[in-house]
Amino acid sequence: MALQRLIASGIGRKLLVALTGLGLVGFLVTHVAGNMNLYLPAKDGQPAINTYADQLHHLPGFFFLELGLAVMFIAHILLTIGLVLSNRAAKGSRYAVNATKQERGGVLAGRTMAISGIVVLVFLVVHISDFRLQREAIEGAGGLEASLLAKLAVPWRAALYVVGSILVCFHMTHGVASAFRSLGIAHEKYTPMIEKTGYVLGIVIGLDFASIPVYALIQGGGA
Ligand code: HEM
Repeated sequence: MALQRLIASGIGRKLLVALTGLGLVGFLVTHVAGNMNLYLPAKDGQPAINTYADQLHHLPGFFFLELGLAVMFIAHILLTIGLVLSNRAAKGSRYAVNATKQERGGVLAGRTMAISGIVVLVFLVVHISDFRLQREAIEGAGGLEASLLAKLAVPWRAALYVVGSILVCFHMTHGVASAFRSLGIAHEKYTPMIEKTGYVLGIVIGLDFASIPVYALIQGGGA
């Protein structure tokens, strides 16, 4: 099968990591924009974020959007781990013997990526079980705004959300440019522009996400 052949080849895996990564950037842009409804005034007695979530859940084909998102997340994570392991296997013996300063720097960057990857995974597991898996309970008990503010006012969770959001977006600042390179889109004039866009996007999205637990702490758990 074509997909099997793509996954089996190193270049194919790189392409899939790039495409799923860019898809996830699209998700994060819409997710953070939706979350910003928390700061909008209530309308017809309903917090703006509750109305937004309600409309989102009633979109036609919403189930398939969620399914596609889950497949994209899982594929991106597994393919990235596969790429890191095969790169490491290819370079392993050289590091052990005569590693240059640059190569040792690469090992350090790789370790930092591995640790931040684990923190992001812990964040995602906690996050999905906090909100996605509690959707019915949240709707039955005061709605999304009340639950967001109450959960994120718990200090350990607020800290995990701030660190998790910043790490995801730091990852994105590097990922956007490298995804375009993997797709073979490199141009003297446009590559620096793509790199800058990745940085700005990562910083803006990271700060917007991280502002939410800070806001919940300031509100003391209630609006
Ligand atoms: C502090 C920042 C964040 C807040 C307050 C937040 C809030 C939420 C809420 C309320 C939901 C449930 C929405 C619903 O029921 O439809 C949700 C779902 C989700 N969030 Fe976040 N989120 C944050 C950051 C992130 C980040 C950084 C990521 C990505 C790494 C992420 C990934 C997801 C995913 C994958 C879902 C499940 C989507 C679905 O299946 O419908 N979130 N988030």
